[in-house]
Amino acid sequence: MESKRARLDRYLAKALQIPRKQVRLLLMSGKVEVDGLLAKDMDLLIDEFNTISCDGRVLQACSPKYFMVHKPVGVVSATKDDEHKTVLELLPEAERSGLHIVGRLDLNTSGLLLLTNDSRWSEALMQPGAHVSKEYLVTLGNPLTEEYAPAFAAGMYFSFEDITTAPARLEVLDSHIARVVLTEGKYHQIKRMFGRFRNPVVALHRSRVGGLSLDENLAPGHWRALTRDEVQQALRDIGS
Ligand code: URA
Repeated sequence: MESKRARLDRYLAKALQIPRKQVRLLLMSGKVEVDGLLAKDMDLLIDEFNTISCDGRVLQACSPKYFMVHKPVGVVSATKDDEHKTVLELLPEAERSGLHIVGRLDLNTSGLLLLTNDSRWSEALMQPGAHVSKEYLVTLGNPLTEEYAPAFAAGMYFSFEDITTAPARLEVLDSHIARVVLTEGKYHQIKRMFGRFRNPVVALHRSRVGGLSLDENLAPGHWRALTRDEVQQALRDIGS
């Protein structure tokens, strides 16, 4: 999802379908407002969440939206799908417009999924250099042994993509249950890492993304808006 930052003069030329020269005159004549303030600077950087008006006419007014969803097993992390219900369809239609998914979960994975219309926020969370941690509870078909944690910490080489996974933390919670913390999201990463031990993942649940944990009161299939603090909290461990 691309960030939509643009220079004000470029935005106005496109939105009003007028040449830049005319845009300059418009700005100089004091007819343009950004977030209720007079805007004369054509270099001003604006994004999709600035309210922009010209001559009293609102050209754009859109507020950022942030949601956490408790994704159930069997619901697909997509905005459209012909076969399965999508996470977007868990929200009422009135809330869905402009939303995209921040990092996917497999069809048979449950847990915390984030949705937003703020591409800068989702990019900050998802860019590879951000190393945002994601915590999973993993139930396995076979018992865990002492070999797992060092192997996860050392990283595993996957020849198919020619990658070595970043150090991951594995904590044994019970004979067949582990808590795993990843700082990346390679294709089917957890299943493939346990696959190295020929140990099938029976259930996979994401409980945390960055500093944001799944609300315990949110039943599978339910959602809620993030608070302002939570929006910041999700970004808490970026780059660490
Ligand atoms: N690892 C997986 O294998 N699946 C997920 O959905 C997330 C991490």
